[in-house]
Amino acid sequence: MKFITVDSYDKMSRQAANIISAQVIIKPDSVLGLATGSTPIGAYKQLIKWYEKGDIDFSRVTSVNLDEYVGLDGHDEQSYRYFMNKNFFEHINIDLDNTYVPNGCAVDLQGEGKAYDEHIRQLGGIDLQLLGIGHDGHIGFNEPDDYFIKSTHVVDLHESTVKANARFFASEDEVPKRAITMGMVSIMQAKKILLIASGKEKREILEKSFYGPITPRIPASILQLHHDITVIYSEN
Ligand code: PGA
Repeated sequence: MKFITVDSYDKMSRQAANIISAQVIIKPDSVLGLATGSTPIGAYKQLIKWYEKGDIDFSRVTSVNLDEYVGLDGHDEQSYRYFMNKNFFEHINIDLDNTYVPNGCAVDLQGEGKAYDEHIRQLGGIDLQLLGIGHDGHIGFNEPDDYFIKSTHVVDLHESTVKANARFFASEDEVPKRAITMGMVSIMQAKKILLIASGKEKREILEKSFYGPITPRIPASILQLHHDITVIYSEN
């Protein structure tokens, strides 16, 4: 594991963007595993700038996102599909047909999960998976549990996650209580993982995740077993 500490959100974002950019330059038809939340926004902004300068070409890239709220369709401004379109995809030359986010409105959510995993398998797996980390150690929406859940599945969000995400909604009541998330197999089979985190309040969970025991009570701790993971942490 490489654990890089930097002193600003901006540096974390630029370094993350550099790693993603290098991946796309070396393998133009990369499968990128992408994440939502506040943390990756700076990296997406940087990548957009480099795209605009002509330094990166996303035309052959495929993306698979980690998760989506159950019950929100892609036109809903709070959905993760909408987030990805607005914060990244609409500003670069990726083919929208090659961008995948789990469908939180699928009638058969279990079937959607199976199909999502099968699709990732058919793509040949994920070349580079970008991750954030929740205060409870979740990655994607893999919440603390008695065991690690392998496949893409529906999850009841923990109270702390609902509270943390309420900042994006008018009130806590409006935060969906369920989500569909990529499971641990697709994440752990990614060829490379890049986890980014920022802020002093993430320090403790990072220490527990990367230097403590591997336990499903801290889902990110499983990442200690990955063979090629880089963590970039900015204290501020
Ligand atoms: P954040 O979310 O980037 O908004 O802090 C991280 C996460 O919940 O995975």
